[in-house]
Amino acid sequence: MSVIETADLRKRYGPIEALKGVSLRVEKGQIYGLLGQNGAGKTTLIKVLLGIVKLTDGRASLLDAPAGAVEVRRRVGYLPEDHAFPGYHTGYSLMDYYGALYGVPAAERAKKIPDTLELVGIAGRMHSKIKTYSKGMKQRLGIAQALMHDPELIILDEPTDGVDPMGRKEIRDLMGQLKAKGHTIFLNSHLLGEVELICDRVAILHKGVVVREGTIDELTKTKGTYVLGLMSGQTFPADAVAQLGFPVRPLPDTAGHFEVTLVEGKTIEPVMKLLAERGLTVVHIVEKKQSLEDVFMKTVESAEPGVDRKQRRRGARPVGGEN
Ligand SMILES: Nc1ncnc2c1ncn2[C@@H]1O[C@H](COP(=O)(O)OP(=O)(O)O)[C@@H](O)[C@H]1O
Ligand SMILES: [Mg+2]
Repeated sequence: MSVIETADLRKRYGPIEALKGVSLRVEKGQIYGLLGQNGAGKTTLIKVLLGIVKLTDGRASLLDAPAGAVEVRRRVGYLPEDHAFPGYHTGYSLMDYYGALYGVPAAERAKKIPDTLELVGIAGRMHSKIKTYSKGMKQRLGIAQALMHDPELIILDEPTDGVDPMGRKEIRDLMGQLKAKGHTIFLNSHLLGEVELICDRVAILHKGVVVREGTIDELTKTKGTYVLGLMSGQTFPADAVAQLGFPVRPLPDTAGHFEVTLVEGKTIEPVMKLLAERGLTVVHIVEKKQSLEDVFMKTVESAEPGVDRKQRRRGARPVGGEN
């Protein structure tokens, strides 16, 4: 059974096609990240799953029920992207309100509220009004609210948005704890570094299309690129390696390491043999990985040839357009 499943899912808002045939599958116990720039369609996908907006075409199911089914809604916790909790509530009274809404009995709420607020790290301020909370505290309260009824599936739309680095780490740790307790987590993010650190699997959504999907390992491994380093004092025979037919280049800012790229149908073996024959000692051999950001940039560039890489890179890790 998969917790979330979509097949050729399409959503149109008037002339705008926000989702153009999205097929995804999230299994129980995973932390699954949906990654993409602002406007990619991430929030729309969540809204379709929860039945907040109606799909235009294709299929979407949640916990084996069609998207939006009322009976399933109680088994799902949801942190909306732009939640604006009324400032006159305290953290405690807001949790009590949502708990009652979800049908959690009063006695259980009295125990559950302090525990959950403790878990997200704001129990010390639970009787202060929300209008006195920082953005990070509001975000934690939003996550606590999503956990109130102990849902099987937790859907978080930009959970670490507006949270400082320490807070982000704590929220990631919290997700790890929830996963360990058997919850499935589906999150949206435009923060690549975050996703890389926490998710089991990710999908990269670009203009309503899933352009890449897989485990972080699968996506960040560049097949067939090795970084080699020899014992100090030895010279890497770059010309000879190139003559074997392998593209090779020195890597700046390393201890004389060289990058060797495999060609169709070949392994690194002939290179190792050549080095051994010359009496050279390999002290460093690593199959190269790229960051999720590199994968994202390459993917987006190949989807849109001619996009200025520097332009897109400005602002470093967040990939969002507007913020
Ligand atoms: N209610 C709406 N009406 C019209 N267009 C919308 C609506 N909600 C979202 N969109 C458009 O759909 C696209 C995807 O938006 P969204 O799902 O919010 O993306 P993301 O969450 O990845 O930033 C954007 O072009 C956005 O302007
Ligand atoms: Mg969004």
